[in-house]
Order: sequence, then C-alpha cells, then structure tokens
Amino acid sequence: MKMDPMQYLSQKRAEVEREVKNIKDFRLFDSNYVPEQPIGRPEMDKITRAILKYERSQIPTNIFAFGSRGCGKTVTVKYLQRIFNESAGDTRILYVNVRENNTSFKMLANILGITPRGVSLSEVFQRFQEKYSVPTILILDEVDCISDKDRQKEILYLMSRSVKNYMLIMLANNSSFLKEIDVQTRSSLQPVPLHFKNYDAVQMCEIIKQRADGGLKDYSESLLREISALVVKKTNSDVRAAIKTLYYVATEKHGDLQNSFQSALQDLTADLICDLNYNNLLALKAASRTSNGFVKDVYQNYSNLCAAKSEKPFCYAHFCNNLSYLQSLGLIMLISTKVGKAYANRINLLFDSSLLKTASSTKLTS
Ligand SMILES: Nc1ncnc2c1ncn2[C@@H]1O[C@H](COP(=O)(O)OP(=O)(O)OP(=O)(O)O)[C@@H](O)[C@H]1O
Ligand SMILES: [Mg+2]
Repeated sequence: MKMDPMQYLSQKRAEVEREVKNIKDFRLFDSNYVPEQPIGRPEMDKITRAILKYERSQIPTNIFAFGSRGCGKTVTVKYLQRIFNESAGDTRILYVNVRENNTSFKMLANILGITPRGVSLSEVFQRFQEKYSVPTILILDEVDCISDKDRQKEILYLMSRSVKNYMLIMLANNSSFLKEIDVQTRSSLQPVPLHFKNYDAVQMCEIIKQRADGGLKDYSESLLREISALVVKKTNSDVRAAIKTLYYVATEKHGDLQNSFQSALQDLTADLICDLNYNNLLALKAASRTSNGFVKDVYQNYSNLCAAKSEKPFCYAHFCNNLSYLQSLGLIMLISTKVGKAYANRINLLFDSSLLKTASSTKLTS
C-alpha cells in the first residue's frame, strides 16, 4: 500500500508521542545522569573524609572501592568530583574510564587531552606531573578493565612512586583485582579496600523516587515499591535495572511490570556482553558449548576457540581469574560440585546464550 511520506512520518510521530506522554524529563533516565544530589550513603562519607584529609595533609590514602554492578560507585565519585572541583578548596579531581582508555598510556593521554604519537609513557607521565600539582586525585573507574597488554599496570606504579604524592581512587566490580597488582606497587600504594554494599529495597525505592519525581508527570508510589522489591530480589540490586524498568513501565512499550523488568534485564545484559573484551567473549562462548560446564572442559574448548581465531589464550590461572570477574558481573555462576571424592567447579550461564550470539556477533566473527 502506498503512503504519503509526510503522512507516514506524522503517524509514527504521533505513536512515539503517545508512548512518551508521561515523560517530563528524559535526562533522568540516561545511564550517565548524575543527580544534583544523589541519595547519600556511608561509603560516600568515607571517600569524602579521605579526600578532605588529603587536602589538609597532602598525604594520600589510596582507595580501592568495589561492589556489584549498578551499586552506585560511578555516580558517587562523579558527584564528589563535581562538588570538589566547584568548591573553593585546592583539591582537583580527575576522572578517567579505564574501559574506554584501557592502557596506562591511553589513560594519561585522555586526561591530558593529547594524541601521543612517538612519545614514551614516561614522557607522558612527565607532562602529567608538570600539569598537575598536589592535591590532585585521580579516579580510575572500571580499573579491572585494564588491558592484558598492560599487565604491569604501569600507571599504578608511576602514581605510587611519584614525588608529587597524588591520591588514587580505583573502582572495580571485583575485589580480586587487588591480587593482580604486583607486590612492589601494592606495597607503595597501600590501597584501602572499601566495599560498596548493595542497596536494600528502601534505598532503591528512594533512588527511583528521585527519578520519578524529576522525570515523570505521573506515577504511583506502589509501583516504585514493587519495582524496588523485584530488582532487589532478582538482581544484585542493580539500580540500572530499576531505572530502566521504571522507564519501560512509564512508556508502556513492553507491557506490564514483569515484562518491562525482563526487557530491562535483557537490554542490560546485551549491553554488558557487547562491552566485554574478545577473550571474555570466547570464554562465554566456550561455556555455552560445554554441556557439562566443568571449568577444565570449558578451558579446553576456550583454548580450541582461541586457536581457531589465532588468538593467544589466557593461561589456566588467568582464565580462572577472569571467570571470577564474569561472575562479579552476574553473567555466570561458579558452582562447586562433588566429582568422586573431590570437588570441581562448574560454570552456570545466567543469561540466554542467544544473547551472546546476537550481541557479540560483530566481535566474534571479525
Ligand atoms: N545513591 C544514588 N543516588 C542516585 N542515583 C543513584 C545512586 N546510586 C546509583 N544511582 C544510579 O544508578 C545507576 C547505576 O549507578 P552507577 O553507574 O554509579 O553504578 P556502578 O556501581 O558504577 O556500576 P558498574 O559497576 O556497572 O560501573 C546510575 O544511573 C546512577 O545514577
Ligand atoms: Mg560504574
């Protein structure tokens, strides 16, 4: 059937307008949105106090903050970055996302805003030291995404040894990252671990109420309570899942609350898989192809996949470290199973493996 293009467009526009009629401000549903004033939590106070002590003494306390996905690590440090940088104090806070800048070189270049061709890492660090004096705090978000090409994690060594006494705040999902830092660097960094606890249903409700107040024209308090209870029960209290579910319910695109929640989870998992590095994707693919799920057999399949793709496989120990990273992301669960008289670990995929196919097809086939 032929349709006038303008008529077609206005019909679609009307459809979209109907969908979003309850949205007052889209920004509040953006995953990078940092609220004017996030809902307070004890971990925020601990970081603030450490920063203020550093401001006063110029003696840094390096912090290693960890916690599950969507538990508020990034929003907390970005909020602190904003208020400290806007305040009259001397402290300057720099932020870099390690997933997007996954080597020491790229991190420093990103902060300095340069494209460093033909410059060595020590020269780039020299420029960093010339530009930033104390008190300067460097936040390395998603620090566990540092590339295997940068096994030495040189930025940590440089920062810990600098005469400038910089302070580091590292954020990660998994506390096991600390074990991967070499002993010498660890002993000069002396990172203080800080666990970001999962929100309970009441805190979750408070957070999404803030979004609903600013972002929606109309909502019911009971809906917020239901979403919070569902997300706390069925996920690792991932606030992203709650915000996305709220958005889907408000736009009525995916039907009722249960369907909206499932769609939100699927979308978040697909995003997560898309963001994984190549070796992790191969590990998941191997797990999906190994019917018994035993780690040793998965590793064998993973090594075969690497050989087929001319990719150097991780050694077994590093592969196991990676499994605990994938577990911390909520993509797999490692279950200890009795085999004869001993115990062996089995991998349970926590998502539909078809997602792996669709979300990662570009990376795995290229
Ligand atoms: N205390 C809070 N107040 C307001 N919003 C919050 C709070 N905690 C989390 N959020 C919101 O929840 C979402 C997820 O938070 P955030 O991105 O900080 O999680 P994260 O711990 O960094 O997760 P990941 O490990 O995946 O990086 C964001 O949209 C954030 O704004
Ligand atoms: Mg984050």
